[in-house]
Amino acid sequence: MDFEPSAEQKEVQTLARDFARAEIEPHAAEWDREHRFPRDLFVKLAELGLMGTCVPEEYGGAGTDFVSYILALEELSRADAGVGVTVAVHTSAVTLPLLDFGTEEQQARFVPPLARGEHLGAFALTEPEAGSDAGSLRTRAVAEGDGWRITGAKQWITNARYAGTFLLFARTDPDSLAARGVSAFILDADHVRITRDEEKLGLNSSATNDLVIEGALVGRDRLLYEEGNGFRVAMQTLDSGRIGIAAQALGIAQAAYDVAREYAKQRYTFGKPIAEHQAIQTKLADMSTEIDAARLLVYRAATLKDRGEPVTEAGAKAKLFASEVARRQTGEAIQILGGYGYTKEFPVERYYRDAKITEIYEGTSEIQRLVIARSILNMQQHTFASG
Ligand code: CAA
Repeated sequence: MDFEPSAEQKEVQTLARDFARAEIEPHAAEWDREHRFPRDLFVKLAELGLMGTCVPEEYGGAGTDFVSYILALEELSRADAGVGVTVAVHTSAVTLPLLDFGTEEQQARFVPPLARGEHLGAFALTEPEAGSDAGSLRTRAVAEGDGWRITGAKQWITNARYAGTFLLFARTDPDSLAARGVSAFILDADHVRITRDEEKLGLNSSATNDLVIEGALVGRDRLLYEEGNGFRVAMQTLDSGRIGIAAQALGIAQAAYDVAREYAKQRYTFGKPIAEHQAIQTKLADMSTEIDAARLLVYRAATLKDRGEPVTEAGAKAKLFASEVARRQTGEAIQILGGYGYTKEFPVERYYRDAKITEIYEGTSEIQRLVIARSILNMQQHTFASG
């Protein structure tokens, strides 16, 4: 048991922290206000290797471990959670499954442009009537020639408007039940048409889109993993992806705590700093304790992933707890700042709005509890390690 990051992990953490402080934090309020996706920022992140952190160097990545990637995500999300989700989906929901499930040819062809940040990745699973019940998706891939013709619609797809590579799930066997008969495909931007830019409560610097696939013809080279086994690709991808969202939630909670603690030391009421009032001390103590606990769950899940052990349960626990801590503690940060916390003069109202989604995407808290319950009750055995 070692609670200290290694020298290499600290290096990535410091790199991400310094970059976030200099290049993200000063602009985050403006991007939020103007709903601006900072496309150029991802070019700079790519120059630092942060768009392919845990991707092997031979595929254009920085070749770090998964823990380093999680530390970087935490730092980016601390400055701007919208930037955090963009990098998280790009990396753990698209680039890494291409490495885990792709043929050598697919890895060599599709991974380097993603790892070098030339393309952004988008993970297209959710549909208007297939959210938590992801296996009920209706997008169809009908066999044609030596490939498939894909038709359907996807909803709330992070990065879609700016993405060059899509990991998209479609039903190849209409007769099979729910999750069975789903296959995973690698699509390009010109295979899809973006139909909507979503307006959201928060995460305004990230792109969330609806899209349609209008009879896109793809060859066998676009099938990721086995035909009919795409749902496993989706589930295993989400197992690790959830650790990334947990790190994002952790970054948001840490940011809110940092502001609240500093404010409490400077704001005077009844003749002393509010940090000297027990009511405020209790809040800060709870915030710090919960954030520490969330951090341990997140780092444990990431460490298991690096060891190649299954992360279904550990990732779900990390995401469940960290996201609920983020929602609770960003609310407490507003409470400590009082009226100021409710205004745009301080960033905590943005953290509060950004935190909420971490309890919803990559599986709601209700779905995390279901995944954890199935695991602890031995109701489902997966043959896959985390890859
Ligand atoms: N690893 C590998 N395989 C798995 C698995 C896992 N963790 N979980 C399930 N499977 C396999 C099962 O073994 C089963 O395989 P067989 O048919 O061969 O037996 C198959 O997948 C179906 O499994 P279930 O019967 O458990 O499927 P289900 O229909 O009951 O659904 C669920 C399970 C956990 C509820 C799943 O639907 C789920 O995770 N829902 C939430 C969806 C989600 O997280 N969406 C996020 C969208 S992406 C996003 O949000 C990105 C973003 O913008 C940030």
